[in-house]
Amino acid sequence: MSIVVDEETLTFTINTCASTYQMQVDNHGYLLHLYYGAHTDGYMGYVLTYCDRGFSGTPQDVADRTYSLDVLPQEYPFQGMGDMRNPLFVVRDAQGAYGCDLRFNGYALTPGKYGLKGLPAVYASADADGAETLSITLADERTGLEVELLYGVLPQLDIITRAVVVRNTGDSRLIVKRLQTACLDFVHGDFDVMSFFGRHAMERCLDRHRVSHGAFSIGSRRGSSSHQYNPMMVLCDHDAAEDSGKCWSMSFVYSGGFHASVEKDQFEQTRMQMGLTDELFSYPVEPGEELVAPEVIMSFANDGVGHLSQNLHQCIAKHVCRGYWRDRVRPILINSWEAHYFDFTGDSLVELARKAADLNIDMLVMDDGWFGKRDNDTCALGDWQPNVAKLGGTVGELARRVNELGLKFGLWVEPEMVSIDSDLYRAHPDWALDVPGKPMVLGRDQLVLDMTRADVRDNIFEQLCAVLDEANIEYLKWDFNRSIVDVFSRPARDQGQVLYDYVLGLYDLLERLCQRYPKLLIEGCAGGGGRFDAGMLYYTPQIWTSDNTDAVNRLAIQYGTSFGYPASAMGAHVSACPNEITGRTVPLSMRGIVAMAGGGFGYELDLLKLTDEECDEVRAQVAEYREIAPLVLNGKYYRLASPFTDALCAWEFVAQDGSEALVAVVLCEVDGYGVSSYVVPRGLTPDAMYRDVESGAVYPANALMDTGLPLATMTSPFSNHLFRFKRVDA
Ligand code: GLA
Repeated sequence: MSIVVDEETLTFTINTCASTYQMQVDNHGYLLHLYYGAHTDGYMGYVLTYCDRGFSGTPQDVADRTYSLDVLPQEYPFQGMGDMRNPLFVVRDAQGAYGCDLRFNGYALTPGKYGLKGLPAVYASADADGAETLSITLADERTGLEVELLYGVLPQLDIITRAVVVRNTGDSRLIVKRLQTACLDFVHGDFDVMSFFGRHAMERCLDRHRVSHGAFSIGSRRGSSSHQYNPMMVLCDHDAAEDSGKCWSMSFVYSGGFHASVEKDQFEQTRMQMGLTDELFSYPVEPGEELVAPEVIMSFANDGVGHLSQNLHQCIAKHVCRGYWRDRVRPILINSWEAHYFDFTGDSLVELARKAADLNIDMLVMDDGWFGKRDNDTCALGDWQPNVAKLGGTVGELARRVNELGLKFGLWVEPEMVSIDSDLYRAHPDWALDVPGKPMVLGRDQLVLDMTRADVRDNIFEQLCAVLDEANIEYLKWDFNRSIVDVFSRPARDQGQVLYDYVLGLYDLLERLCQRYPKLLIEGCAGGGGRFDAGMLYYTPQIWTSDNTDAVNRLAIQYGTSFGYPASAMGAHVSACPNEITGRTVPLSMRGIVAMAGGGFGYELDLLKLTDEECDEVRAQVAEYREIAPLVLNGKYYRLASPFTDALCAWEFVAQDGSEALVAVVLCEVDGYGVSSYVVPRGLTPDAMYRDVESGAVYPANALMDTGLPLATMTSPFSNHLFRFKRVDA
């Protein structure tokens, strides 16, 4: 049993292989957080201290000035009983009064991992994964409010999940004003916080700050998880590194607005928290109704952020991503976007496919521009009928022509959007989100459909099904190319529920597609990686990592992404040089090695413009990727060097059983007659010998992991190498 309950002291302990999480209901019924750290036995209540602290209030019935929720570590901090730090929960009652008093009301233990109605969540079974669920209910007697705290545990992966269900068991409407999911209170410590910031075409750059007084916070008010801040955060010892130091993470399994923060308080205590943003949030819960706070995945590692990332990789790749493609090597694709943009015909795509077949590529993806009269990005979103004149037939006919060349066929869509210049908008202007009477805000000239409405979702679902049923489409790229600014839904009870209901609507639509087309590979996208989160990965096992395909920038983007997400989830393509966004030219070999670090490998350029020499190189890359793809999909991932601080960038995949390893190295900077560079692999089987598959040289694992391998031939900028090692016995 991973979850242990001491009935007498109401102490709840959740154990994973390497971590322990503990909380306790105190004498006054408040649920206090005691510990989350390295695996330990025993009771951690001794960490609590009590004394009179000025200006920290006491619940009236406690009548002891040494007791204040303003100081004690909380499991689910709420507004109303004296904790003046950042709360997770704020509610307003029917009189308009704020505040509640959440005290322990019961608990339940169940085998297996809980699921959430209408929301994505980690899945795991009792038998295969040893998963268990703990539910602790807190109640506010005055209003009839119940707050159920859900904890899931995947012991072998060192993963603990949290979610919250709010129920109104009273007899009048409650308005939930803030609903966050998870919090970790530390009674002391010197921490750093890592977060992942960016912008369109430069997502998930690593940022690291020392935690100090005042709050460090990240979030999104864009209706999507956003390019700007990823809903994933790490708290770690100030001196923690890849392979040393204590680290804690939170990842939000949600694709809309969020807020996460770390704050050191007046008593040098630190609170880390994550959940829904409360901006534009105000959710009415009528008697008998409930509201779910999306899941947060937490992990702890005692030995560095590298191990922490590996826990998250396993959890997301095998317990969030689902379906037919979860464990399968994905097709190598050629995408038409950077090859042709809007300027293509059915015939030109067939020519692209013919060349792709010659290069042994598996699939042609027809990107934007195939529907309505969409020859530029100002029109036709919402009109998901093929432009038969442009394609020279239906999508089905084009797919057949591509299939005849031996290639699969994939399609781009952006189902949540509508162009003002579209038949859909002309017929249903009220289906777009806008604020009546206020000038609308356009993004890429388009509006956002009201996905809270079942009739809107049904229309889009039917339009998509019509295309998917008519053609042999094996892949769908699901795009989302603007932020949501105008928040007004005509049927909404309270406009404060719209952004949350929007995300539920999106998930409903995706779920219906996943159910109807179980073998369809869906790749998420939002102007590249603007919605790269664990919520989307429940429906789309890979996401287009960034619109920026420059291999140097991609080193940074993929490095940052790897902190919270598995390589299997990253779409990465080789594109033309000079790069469309940065103007930089780097060797094709480097573009290949960087793109091969993702589970969704492919090409995004006009293959017909490649020289014969380049074609041979592409054929070699395709062949190499086929060989390494299982390791990229299932191996343990190590960051060996950082593109932010090191002269070279290196990463590694090691088979779970240590039998083989792949070490990729790219030299970013070269100094005159420089010092020799070395790459130092990790995670090999100690005491074993490894053979370099290319050179035949045999190395002791211990020496490789100690001194490493000199990079003697890598002397010019952007030189690169992919080492493939096999354990000698393997
Ligand atoms: C977004 C995507 C691109 C491409 C275009 C098409 O920007 O990220 O890959 O699909 O839309 O309009």
